[in-house]
Amino acid sequence: MTGWTLGIETTAHTLSFGLVDADGKPYPAASDTLRPDEGGIHPREAADHHKDVAAGLYAKVLEMHGINQNQLTGVAYSQGPGLGPCLRVGASIARGIATRLDVPLIGVNHCVAHIEIGRQQCGCQDPVLLYVSGGNTQVIARLNGRYRVLGETLDIGIGNMLDKFARLQGIPFPGGPKIEELASAYLERCPNPTMEGLELPYAVRGMDLAFSGLLTAAQRLVENGTELDAVCWSLQEHAFASCVEVAERAMAHTGKSELLLGGGVACNERMRTMSNMMANDREGTSHAPPKMYCIDNGTMIALLGFLELQNRTTHLNQSGINQYLRTDQTPIQWA
Ligand code: ATP
Ligand code: FE2
Repeated sequence: MTGWTLGIETTAHTLSFGLVDADGKPYPAASDTLRPDEGGIHPREAADHHKDVAAGLYAKVLEMHGINQNQLTGVAYSQGPGLGPCLRVGASIARGIATRLDVPLIGVNHCVAHIEIGRQQCGCQDPVLLYVSGGNTQVIARLNGRYRVLGETLDIGIGNMLDKFARLQGIPFPGGPKIEELASAYLERCPNPTMEGLELPYAVRGMDLAFSGLLTAAQRLVENGTELDAVCWSLQEHAFASCVEVAERAMAHTGKSELLLGGGVACNERMRTMSNMMANDREGTSHAPPKMYCIDNGTMIALLGFLELQNRTTHLNQSGINQYLRTDQTPIQWA
């Protein structure tokens, strides 16, 4: 008899434990995110953080949903892509729990987990995916049994770009939500803005994107005395428009009519609005899961583990990590 599947997420800043029940129904995760006081993320510091909070968070997620660990019948973890030291902590916690409880272990692809939780939450059948997170920016579609990357960033992820821009202004990680607030504040004080004096580079190459030129140019505007809220508004408009343009091209080429957003930047209301506008223009639909399932969370790992356990398990001697695992390396063997 199948019981609950546990999912453990540790690709970067966040350690998160999530659960799905015997029918694959998701339950909110218990998470803790390392927020560095200054500078970027140091992989070893994040890994130490994850080790420190793991036992407490594991107990918390079981307690939140009133279950006993003996009701777990599978343990899933993020096998990659991500930061090596962080991934190793998750894999070793997963091996420990699975061995102790004598239940199957399964290593899953973090990017594919973002996609599957979105499909499950939004009821999409066969969407084009716009995966916009800290480390990743990809446009993806399912073709011949794999999630194929049709276009992606050629330099940094969109979320990293937002976080780096924020950090240069002294705004702590994660910078995306604060930039969203500042952009909204600009629209309140200036309800009909124009791009005059706020133009930034717009780097779309076919279905690929780039963000580092945008980051440098936005910083230059600030240094030249432009108000920060105006720059945040322009930065969002340029960055999100480039993602939505590529998503539209992917919909046109594949003939698919659903767009699904995923990854932390999909929390952004302006990104959601622009995606909706584009999809409506094409007589298609745009979808985004609840914000707790856009950001990194253990529940999406549990869900993909639940789906994959129907076909395979990960043996202990294959339970290493793969920092560079790609979205299209995982065969789709579930419905
Ligand atoms: P991945 O390994 O998939 O790249 P990640 O480690 O970047 O994941 P996520 O939780 O998927 O983690 O995304 C975090 C990113 O989302 C951060 O860059 C953060 O600034 C951004 N973000 C979160 N909320 C918002 C928002 N409201 N607007 C813009 N960006 C946001
Ligand atoms: Fe992620």
